[in-house]
Amino acid sequence: MADLNVTIPGDANADITSHDAYAQGVPHATFERLRQKSPICWVDRSDGPGFWAITRHEDILTINRDHARFSSAHGIRMEDQTPDEVEARRTFQETDPPVHTRARIHLNRAFSKKMIAAYEVQVRELAVEILDNALLEPQFDAVTMIARKLPMRMLGRVVGLPDEDLDWLVDKGDSLIANTDPDFTDHVIDQVNTDEYRFYPFRSPAGKDLYDYAEKQAALRRDTNKDDLLSLFLAPMKNGETFTDLEFKNAFALLVSAGNDTTRYSISASIKALIDNPGLLSQLRTLDEAQWLLAVEEMLRWASPTMHFRRTAIEDVEFKGHHINAGDKVILWFISANRDETVFEQPFTININRTPNPHLAFGQGSVHACLGMWLARLELRVVLQELVKRVHSIEQSGPETYLRSNFIGGIKSLPVSIQCVQ
Ligand code: HEM
Repeated sequence: MADLNVTIPGDANADITSHDAYAQGVPHATFERLRQKSPICWVDRSDGPGFWAITRHEDILTINRDHARFSSAHGIRMEDQTPDEVEARRTFQETDPPVHTRARIHLNRAFSKKMIAAYEVQVRELAVEILDNALLEPQFDAVTMIARKLPMRMLGRVVGLPDEDLDWLVDKGDSLIANTDPDFTDHVIDQVNTDEYRFYPFRSPAGKDLYDYAEKQAALRRDTNKDDLLSLFLAPMKNGETFTDLEFKNAFALLVSAGNDTTRYSISASIKALIDNPGLLSQLRTLDEAQWLLAVEEMLRWASPTMHFRRTAIEDVEFKGHHINAGDKVILWFISANRDETVFEQPFTININRTPNPHLAFGQGSVHACLGMWLARLELRVVLQELVKRVHSIEQSGPETYLRSNFIGGIKSLPVSIQCVQ
């Protein structure tokens, strides 16, 4: 059942493969139609093999749990890669158990809820500094001044990178993830020839720069033993193996891309939600800590910045009356799962008390479920807590713009006019 009195936003007949289809926001009406009429749907592509688009929560969860038949080792994005490209760019995200398990066991503890909780004071200090600076002016761009600033600064602290490098890393992270948006790169992947960079993360020259940077950081840690998280990526795993140089560089590029944009776009979607739902600000001000945890989950469901990830069938699979061939690409649309009306009552309404809230923003269900989820949750909660304390009212002072990407969904600029509490 669709939301009462809520119009599903976006084009109902969008080409979900086109980056342009997301440049005005997510075409939710198309995903709604797919969920209801064609939830397991073959999508042809003119520029290469097509894929299965999976749009219902239940089916996404089933496939996401089934790494034995739906592999991550052949690529995790819609983009087609030759086997040598996959090999060159492989991170632990593009591996299956047991190889993947070894890496996750090695890293999980450092990113666990408990370990990340220890950063709360630092996150709060950073959030306060960023907000106090932004709020000096009554009007500003909320993405540039708030959402884009916090995630890399925090990642820098967690991973152990010098503060003076972080703006440069934000730019590089943007060029990687936003390799489809001319505002962030000259090497727009579907518009110019990027063959020269096909062995680098995201086929991007920024990938090459990040490799060089990662090499320098690795050398620093080999010379002097640093007790930071990047050193953990260089340390031997339980079985004595270490990441190779290439695996380390790819893992570093993964951290810089995953830890930067997704949290930013969750923050910008949350600020936009505050603007569009005027009662939300005062509702949030009254929450206790336990209620804040629920509110953050709802914001993550709402934002769903990582719109999809891909798997590849490694054997023929009969799935709900569809024959999926070995080798077929299968795309799991988390953005659609998180608006599935059979799971979420009134999915197009923000309900900060929603419980249960089995959203899939972090790719839950999979062995690949987000490594950085506790950090992202912490950052989002703290920045919103500090924002609602300071802000009396917030309005939009110009149109927002969206990332041109079928992969990461996000508001890339959001002009706001803010009245602070006295
Ligand atoms: C709101 C913010 C975030 C969202 C929505 C998000 C989303 C996701 C999703 C959907 C996956 C699953 C990928 C798959 O199925 O292949 C994932 C994996 C991953 N994320 Fe995040 N992420 C966020 C923040 C972060 C942060 C802050 C970091 C780093 C500190 C991070 C690091 C990773 C890594 C390393 C993986 C790969 C895990 C693996 O393959 O085992 N993410 N993320």
